[in-house]
Amino acid sequence: MNTLAISPICARIVDDLATQGWSQHDFFMPEDLTTQLAKECRQRAQRGQLELAGVGRGVAKVVHSGIRGDQIQWLEEGQNTSVDGYLALMEQLRRVINQTLFLGLEDFEGHFALYPPGAFYKKHLDRFRDDDRRVVTCVAYLNEHWLPEHGGALRMYLDEQQTHDVMPLAGTLVVFMSEQWPHEVLPASRDRLSITGWLRRRA
Ligand code: OGA
Ligand code: MN
Repeated sequence: MNTLAISPICARIVDDLATQGWSQHDFFMPEDLTTQLAKECRQRAQRGQLELAGVGRGVAKVVHSGIRGDQIQWLEEGQNTSVDGYLALMEQLRRVINQTLFLGLEDFEGHFALYPPGAFYKKHLDRFRDDDRRVVTCVAYLNEHWLPEHGGALRMYLDEQQTHDVMPLAGTLVVFMSEQWPHEVLPASRDRLSITGWLRRRA
């Protein structure tokens, strides 16, 4: 097997996942990568390539703006250097998690997401009733100069009493066990850009 040197950040992510089930890093992504990805996401939005996100999957999938109001486009390899750079980071993380936590993660799927002002995603879990392939959720934020008063936090429900809010600030990555943590996206006063994705196991 091809083992790789584990970067300190990946080491901390697997450590956090093992001990508490989630992990947040405020400087995960190099600044030029987030800038390029944000630019790419905006260009795709301007070209009309983003679509209203659905809820559920397959034939049960419906667009439901009362549940989520983001616009998305799935990432594909080989279309854009910054997207390829991000996919490479996720591939590295996938390998490190497999090497250390033995989760048998097979691939990554992810999409750009743009929440226009006022859009939100109600409290939910990242698992479909009929598909349990999603094991680890990874969300990277692309918003420069984000301030608390802009809103748009990712709110994680840690237990009955405790929530944890993540500001969608450029460079931040949040990683969590998909099945474990209910979470929601609060509305913001400006466009909120991110890449949301999942490390998945075999069907
Ligand atoms: C999702 C989601 C969180 C975020 O797309 O399932 O919960 O902060 N996104 O964008
Ligand atoms: Mn989610």
